[in-house]
Amino acid sequence: MPETRDIPFIDLSLNKSDSRKTIENLSKLIKDKSFIGGEEVKIFQENFSKFNKSKYCLAVANGTDALEIALESLDLPKNSEVIVPNFTFLSPAEAVIRGGYKLVLADINLNDFTISVESLEKLISKKTSALIVVHLFGNPCNMLEIKKITDKHNIKLIEDCSQAHGAKFKEKKVGNFGDIGTFSFYPTKNLGAFGDSGALVTNKKNLFNIAKKIANHGRVDTYDHILPGRNSRLDTFQASVLNLKLKNLRMSNAMRIKQAASYKKSMHLLDIKTVNLSSDQFSVFHQFPILSNERELLMKFLNKKGVNCGIYYPKPLSKMRAFRDQVFLNKFHSRNSEIACKKILSLPIGPHLDIKDIEYVADVIQSFST
Ligand SMILES: Cc1ncc(COP(=O)(O)O)c(C=O)c1O
Repeated sequence: MPETRDIPFIDLSLNKSDSRKTIENLSKLIKDKSFIGGEEVKIFQENFSKFNKSKYCLAVANGTDALEIALESLDLPKNSEVIVPNFTFLSPAEAVIRGGYKLVLADINLNDFTISVESLEKLISKKTSALIVVHLFGNPCNMLEIKKITDKHNIKLIEDCSQAHGAKFKEKKVGNFGDIGTFSFYPTKNLGAFGDSGALVTNKKNLFNIAKKIANHGRVDTYDHILPGRNSRLDTFQASVLNLKLKNLRMSNAMRIKQAASYKKSMHLLDIKTVNLSSDQFSVFHQFPILSNERELLMKFLNKKGVNCGIYYPKPLSKMRAFRDQVFLNKFHSRNSEIACKKILSLPIGPHLDIKDIEYVADVIQSFST
């Protein structure tokens, strides 16, 4: 066992050169008194739609707003049911309830922790109007099977890509399979700002136009507002930070992919269950989760050896006080979500670490297991 190392789960520091450049950029915006909209936001929308190979990108205030605006733009019939995975960050479910729709929760699969196609198919009813899939932990869902289902039943599709900037399924970037893709740029994401921010992407001009109006008070011109919208604009400071950080995204994703390969190799030798992706799934490893029957003990042991881990997520949505009275869930549709909540442990991964750190974490896990 090598000497104890300090391995943070997340580290949001910038390198020296990016830090200097960011301060220069923000100082210029202050000097120009440019705080809302302007060139930086316009450039970010262009840059991000180019990065994601999507026709349109609308920058908004955060990833939760992006989901709410996406759902509102689809203009679903009243009393619609909207299907969401039971194991995820809660925003997609919040958007469904706040939109006035009925929340239906589907199970996940334990290979990649994304929605179970089998569970999803069984939950479709005459009232199902939309599906929100989540490309969780950087892992793209099986979009081939999902598209077959949404096409067959004529269901609208939103992809929550908040944890999957740059992930691909069959070489196509996530966010381009359904009607609208949504992103969060919360600071800890693969692409993170210096505060809250988000975006939605679409290849449909009509959806882009309606979303743009909803996000900016229904405005079409000075004091010409055609619908009661809301204020969900990306501010100029965050756009400036994102424009700089977007330049590093490919490289930092590549580092995560290399680190995940190193983890996978060592976990395979240890017989520990972790993500099992098909060759169609290009993950960007926002997180690297493992499943452990002795999670609490393992986590304590890792902490003692200087390794910080996280539990995402300890509860399925069906057990959250916010939703538990709104959903009736047959056991069939919650089995894997419950298993994941009990056993999952996310190991440190990201551009703040090098391969030696990853090898150290794997060694610590090995010394726990033997
Ligand atoms: C899958 C998922 N969806 C939505 C969100 C919400 O994003 P935001 O915090 O920017 O509102 C997050 C953020 O944690 C997320 O992980």
